[in-house]
Amino acid sequence: EKGGYDHFMLKEIYEQPSAIEDTYRGRMLVKEGIIKMSGIDDHLERFLNANRIIIVACGTSWHAGLVAEYIFEDLARIPVEVEYASEFRYRNPVIGKGDVLIAISQSGETADTMAAIKLAKENGAFVFGVCNVVGSSISRITDAGAYTHAGPEIGVASTKAFTTQITLLTLIALKLGKEKGSISKSDFYLYLQEMDLIPSKIEKALEANKHIIEVANHYKNSRNCLYLGRGYNFPVALEGALKLKEISYIHAEGYPAAEMKHGPIALIDEEMPVVVIATRKGHYEKVVSNVQEIKSRKGKIIAIVTEGDEQVSKVADHVIEVPDTFEALTPLLTTIPLQLLSYHIAVMLGKNVDQPRNLAKSVTVE
Ligand code: F6R
Repeated sequence: EKGGYDHFMLKEIYEQPSAIEDTYRGRMLVKEGIIKMSGIDDHLERFLNANRIIIVACGTSWHAGLVAEYIFEDLARIPVEVEYASEFRYRNPVIGKGDVLIAISQSGETADTMAAIKLAKENGAFVFGVCNVVGSSISRITDAGAYTHAGPEIGVASTKAFTTQITLLTLIALKLGKEKGSISKSDFYLYLQEMDLIPSKIEKALEANKHIIEVANHYKNSRNCLYLGRGYNFPVALEGALKLKEISYIHAEGYPAAEMKHGPIALIDEEMPVVVIATRKGHYEKVVSNVQEIKSRKGKIIAIVTEGDEQVSKVADHVIEVPDTFEALTPLLTTIPLQLLSYHIAVMLGKNVDQPRNLAKSVTVE
């Protein structure tokens, strides 16, 4: 059932190329140059006329929501707010007709996310669900939705659910961007073509596995770990840190790279590994200077870089490459090495990777 892998988590990490293909198959028609999604097509006006989109979710799904915020604002020019479902439901939010709420949930059973949906509906908002589990509670109480089609995710630590959520939300943003004219037709086609290459680029990123095992071996006894990223890769930093803490029980924090100097830089010494996402597209020069700041304080740097990178590679202690892609699609690639890194560290520490202590696959209580 684990298909020859030692753990479900590893199997699910390796399933990402095909899971992402399953997400966009039949929806993204590259030759025709269209994106077909009935959940959007049937309610197109609601989305196009939305005052704003509010995304609610928990945990890893919330991180996918943060990536989506960048993508929606960038490509579709619709204002987006991303909220923890647990906070949204208890803070008397200003929401009503004309607002679209997107709820993201792998399991489709998360109690806080359900409660946020009910609150939004009571206030007249239109609710769209992004779920993986077909027929789940959330998919039944939303006004419309789309499934990620990632297949069953058994490992408690979410992996393929995250990248397929991002894929699906990217398709929605592209579709709305095209309808609104906020993205040109030619850019739209280029995005479809590039998205179609993502599964093979993930295959390529997975080839770093052996090297990542060596890196994991270096850092498995760390007490803390910092993850930094900017722009589209800031949420990836948060997700990388969550993956590490939940399965290896090493304390980890994700930060926007530029926030480091407002506090966390005080933590940096030779004992502190810092994982920096420094792909060539997106604030590269600024991240390079953040990396130098860490280096001059003797921090240990593990950099996720674009293939062929030279600048960061000169300074970093370890470099893990991912293929080049459009900036908006980089999270789909940069997430991969971070999943593998936490997986290998947890395995080396003898932790129960698929069922970490105190955690459940679906959180049906608040
Ligand atoms: C992290 C993880 C959790 C879930 C969260 C939301 O790896 O698994 O943080 O992402 O409990 O779950 P869903 O997406 O099912 O609503």
